[in-house]
Amino acid sequence: MILVTGGAGYIASHTCIELLQAGYEVLAIDNLSNASEESLNRVQQITGETLRFIKGDVRDAAVMKDIFEQHPIDAVIHFAGLKAVGESCAMPLEYYDNNLNSTLVLAQAMQAAKCKNLVFSSSATVYGDPSKLPLTEDMPLSATNPYGRSKLIIEQMLGDLPAADVLNKTAPWSIALLRYFNPVGAHPSGMIGEDPNDTPNNLMPFITQTAIGRRQQLAIFGNDYNTHDGTGVRDYIHVVDLAKGHLKAVEKLLSSEGIKGVQAYNLGTGNGISVLDMVKAFSKVNHVDVPYEIVPRRAGDVAACYADVSRAKKELNWQATQQLEDMVKDSWHWQSLNPKGYKS
Ligand code: NAD
Ligand code: UFG
Repeated sequence: MILVTGGAGYIASHTCIELLQAGYEVLAIDNLSNASEESLNRVQQITGETLRFIKGDVRDAAVMKDIFEQHPIDAVIHFAGLKAVGESCAMPLEYYDNNLNSTLVLAQAMQAAKCKNLVFSSSATVYGDPSKLPLTEDMPLSATNPYGRSKLIIEQMLGDLPAADVLNKTAPWSIALLRYFNPVGAHPSGMIGEDPNDTPNNLMPFITQTAIGRRQQLAIFGNDYNTHDGTGVRDYIHVVDLAKGHLKAVEKLLSSEGIKGVQAYNLGTGNGISVLDMVKAFSKVNHVDVPYEIVPRRAGDVAACYADVSRAKKELNWQATQQLEDMVKDSWHWQSLNPKGYKS
């Protein structure tokens, strides 16, 4: 059985589909602070399989202890956390509390239960302002905001565990740190997708909400970057590809070869796509207008960021297969079927 923390969220709900379709039993825990339980109802409709759901907080040590006592958990995928960069600058303590304490409580419960297979949701944000592209996993790490720092601290904290196993002669931890680039898109059924509370943080929900008329126009943050058209370049990855990457990571952890200690993997496509590339592809594929205006740069943005994905290909036998056209088509399919997200 796989424990999925933050299981009702955007990336986790897509991952639950892949796990269920591969035959795993799934137990999801979520405090529903940024998600609706409806996403998991729909996961079950899509797959025809059932999963168990616990509404709870990963920081609650008693709840976590109970989960490991009551269920035969083979591995954990830890998605639960807060993820908005801007918000993290305004409320750093909430971010450190949620992201650090959830991981600490989870890891303690896992250690006590002798379940030491963990996949952690990290982020390309741990590379800070990249000095060289594409980004490989061994490049220097840094943080430019409290959200990024929480991910970096967690990576470092988990990085201390293998040495302790050697000292204590305990069974080894096996940990995959998955550094996501920019997840977009939705399940092709259009039944689940990204459903931000209030104002979105990321480009794609701004595009879809503009296209559907919830916003008048998209603000493009700067067209004077040193990129092919002046707008920011990122490595967008279809969320279903990303979800399949988690399945591959779990399979690797549970294989006889396993992962020795802690290993980081970039999950991206390796392609750099600009904001204007994305807007144009969205309009062309979906035959819908996305009015936009160019506004000043957003503080803290880097010009370009994309991954070298060769390690994940070699060691996890995973690579992204979906193209930009699939990403914009599926994002729009989800938004147009669910104009108000899970509330519609
Ligand atoms: P999401 O907000 O949709 O999912 C996170 C889920 O965790 C939510 O359902 C929320 O209700 C839940 N949660 C938060 N704190 C919790 C707690 N203490 N106990 C139980 N549940 C809790 O976000 P997402 O985009 O699916 O991101 C999932 C993970 O991936 C996060 O850790 C995020 O930092 C990381 N990540 C996301 C992106 C991205 O662009 N979406 C990029 C890199 C990394
Ligand atoms: N952008 C716009 N207009 C918008 C929103 C975004 O022009 O309304 C641009 C940004 O300037 C950037 C690109 O679109 O060039 C992508 O921006 P996102 O906010 O979607 O994504 P970021 O790359 O800035 O941030 C993402 C995650 C963070 C993570 C970071 C690094 O949201 O959590 O990648 O991994 F920290």
